Amino acid sequence: MRDPGTLDPDGADLVLGVLASTRAVRRYRSEPVPEQVLARLLFAATRAPSGSNRQGFRFLVLRDGPGAARAKALIGDAARRLWAAKEVADGYGTGTGAAADSPKARTARTMRAFVDGFEDIPVVILAGIVRHREGTDELLGASVYPACQNLLVAARASGYGGVMMTWHRAVEPELREVLAIPDDVFLAATITLGRPVGGTGAVRRAELHHLVFEDRWGEAPGWAVDPPGSRFTRWRD
Ligand SMILES: Cc1cc2nc3c(=O)[nH]c(=O)nc-3n(C[C@H](O)[C@H](O)[C@H](O)COP(=O)(O)O)c2cc1C
Repeated sequence: MRDPGTLDPDGADLVLGVLASTRAVRRYRSEPVPEQVLARLLFAATRAPSGSNRQGFRFLVLRDGPGAARAKALIGDAARRLWAAKEVADGYGTGTGAAADSPKARTARTMRAFVDGFEDIPVVILAGIVRHREGTDELLGASVYPACQNLLVAARASGYGGVMMTWHRAVEPELREVLAIPDDVFLAATITLGRPVGGTGAVRRAELHHLVFEDRWGEAPGWAVDPPGSRFTRWRD
């Protein structure tokens, strides 16, 4: 067997391809995620680094048990409220968003369907981390968000998709009570998971030279060039 710690050039390309197509997926087929897939994704999540390798991260999987139903309803209600407020605040229905086929209007429709059907999402995972001493939420988050991204990348590689969010924060006291989450756990993220509806295209980001500097802040090195075929968002400084 090959040493699992090494990758041939094709393997490296494959990994890069998966990374570069791990997009936020918010539309799911109504089919369960098999337990062996869940085990694989959570294995990937728990391969992530954490400070001092303390592994304080914990993942609470919500599928269709009684706790899950109540928790999904709580987060779903929060999601609907938060999205409704953001939709207005960010002008999704005005300006270019007024045209039904505009990107803004399409995003708004996807988001509306996502929050309206939150309770039917096959899997919702709460990612938390046990506080070992007082620290800022940012520092704690730094030891759990890499695991969240590992999970999403592994999902993409396995034909699944999801999105990470922080909507649980609006209903955190209620969630803690319903799910018996101890006070010393920092709840870092909510992750939804399922089989995507439709295909997954390439992630779009700004061109590398906007984002990478060398030697001095703001100075892009000549080597900071995106691979051929990369897709981009409009650059907003
Ligand atoms: C810290 C963080 C918070 C996020 N919060 C939300 C959220 O509340 N609701 C949501 O639908 N997506 C949320 N997202 C997902 C982002 O909107 C998404 O990753 C981003 O738009 C990039 O999408 P793309 O990878 O498909 O281009 C969050 C992502 C991160 C990293």
